[in-house]
Amino acid sequence: MIDVENVTVTFDDVTAVRDIDLRVDTGEFVTVIGPSGCGKTTLLRTIGGLQDPTNGRVLIADRDPAASQSDANLGFVFQQHTLFPWKTALQNVTFLRKMAGKSPRPGRARELLEAVGLEESEHLYPSELSGGMKQRVAIVRALHLDADVLLMDEPFGELDEITRDRLSVELREIWRQERKTILFVTHSVPEAVLLADRCLLFDGPPGRLVASFDIDLPRPRDERVFESPAFQRQVAAVRSALYGTRTEPASRTD
Ligand SMILES: Nc1ncnc2c1ncn2[C@@H]1O[C@H](COP(=O)(O)OP(=O)(O)O)[C@@H](O)[C@H]1O
Ligand SMILES: [Mg+2]
Repeated sequence: MIDVENVTVTFDDVTAVRDIDLRVDTGEFVTVIGPSGCGKTTLLRTIGGLQDPTNGRVLIADRDPAASQSDANLGFVFQQHTLFPWKTALQNVTFLRKMAGKSPRPGRARELLEAVGLEESEHLYPSELSGGMKQRVAIVRALHLDADVLLMDEPFGELDEITRDRLSVELREIWRQERKTILFVTHSVPEAVLLADRCLLFDGPPGRLVASFDIDLPRPRDERVFESPAFQRQVAAVRSALYGTRTEPASRTD
């Protein structure tokens, strides 16, 4: 579904990502983790067609990312949310679908807003919402667009733990029911393991893929998985690769 072929992105004097080869299959949930500044956002933007690669190419469903974008087959959640200031929360959520020629489905939009605790805020404008609330609207908007491919750049980073857990449940449910293809950047190792079929470890700059972990925990996964030794072993393995040292024994909780 997503094919990244030998992609390098260079800005003036910085090579942000170098020689990336990556394939994400249809319906696969892949998480990306790595230190700050290692090129994760650049990679996601390049896959989304917002940044041209200096070398190599990206294909989404065998087409240029721009083509997927223009028929709303790509949903984004970026670190900086980009809501329309003159539209309410609900209008922001339904507008992208309308633009894409899809039915607005306000009932479903409200359901998703409710899932993230914004049922009372649907008529508020972005200037009346906190940073975390705006981020939730941006996430709901991407989910509501109902694209086959979702690119999410630390979408839960600014949220409080309760909201993050609720959204994480909602995202896994949507993924499970509709088999979206998801590439999800996070800086939380437990989140990277909880969500993923496969977790990719990046390092840089220049950003490059240094390890890949198949996460073979049974699904559906809920919060009880945090207690399971298998989960803790996976988290310890990713963490040890991330920090280049052996971590605490797998039996210890986080
Ligand atoms: N538009 C840009 N112009 C110049 N340098 C950039 C630009 N975007 C990213 N970079 C540089 O590329 C490197 C990777 O950045 P980024 O992809 O944002 O990393 P991450 O998301 O992993 O924190 C950094 O050194 C950053 O300063
Ligand atoms: Mg980033």
